[in-house]
Amino acid sequence: MSNPTPKSREDTVPMFAYPVKEKTKLQRPITGDHNADFFEIAMTRHSTHSFGALLPGQLDHLLWFAAKALETRVQSDGYVLSHRPSPSAGARHPIDILVCSNASQPTVAYYNPFEHSLNTLRLDLVVVTELVAHINTAVDMQQGVFLWLLAHPSRTAAKYEHPESLIWRDAGALLQQIQLTAIALKLSSCALGTLAEPFASQLFENIGSVVSAGGIIVGNLDL
Ligand SMILES: Cc1cc2nc3c(=O)[nH]c(=O)nc-3n(C[C@H](O)[C@H](O)[C@H](O)COP(=O)(O)O)c2cc1C
Repeated sequence: MSNPTPKSREDTVPMFAYPVKEKTKLQRPITGDHNADFFEIAMTRHSTHSFGALLPGQLDHLLWFAAKALETRVQSDGYVLSHRPSPSAGARHPIDILVCSNASQPTVAYYNPFEHSLNTLRLDLVVVTELVAHINTAVDMQQGVFLWLLAHPSRTAAKYEHPESLIWRDAGALLQQIQLTAIALKLSSCALGTLAEPFASQLFENIGSVVSAGGIIVGNLDL
């Protein structure tokens, strides 16, 4: 694999607009409400397979501490660089989180890290149902949610030659951040080996180029 190197001139990142059906503002954590000992979290981190339903606010806080855009800087070409809980090559953050829910009617929602909102997407219900069934075949989601990491390679490729490894390393950093946050919030979580293909291309190929970077199931420890 070749070394990523910055391009002498950055390319433009193509537009990608998610087909948003409904936007819900998420709760922000209240300062001082969450206390956790990092060293204890590091020593107790583990993958678990009990996925009870998340209580109101738990997903909101998980996404805040794992993926919220905390600072932004707009480049002259309009691209928004951001600082978030996990690192990203060039602060490009090519990976979005899609929340896939198992409920009676499966849904996929885009987490907007700038607004801290959850945006239910208008997608082909047959494909969404197949996607959720596929995840359940890999590991039973029970009442949990699957946080699907959807990479937009063009965001990193606009700045770097040979960007592939950067995107996968970003995915690993984000996965670890989500799991450590889940442990801190006393939630259950387990990464999945499946990429949930071919559903990424089936759901989004008419909008733009995206690549699945896997994901992680999260739920409550109590069933
Ligand atoms: C990239 C990745 C993919 C994984 N895929 C699966 C999976 O498909 N099914 C599963 O049950 N666990 C999966 N896991 C969880 C591992 O099996 C788990 O991390 C391993 O057994 C060690 O357990 P621990 O995380 O509690 O230390 C995955 C973990 C990672 C990092």
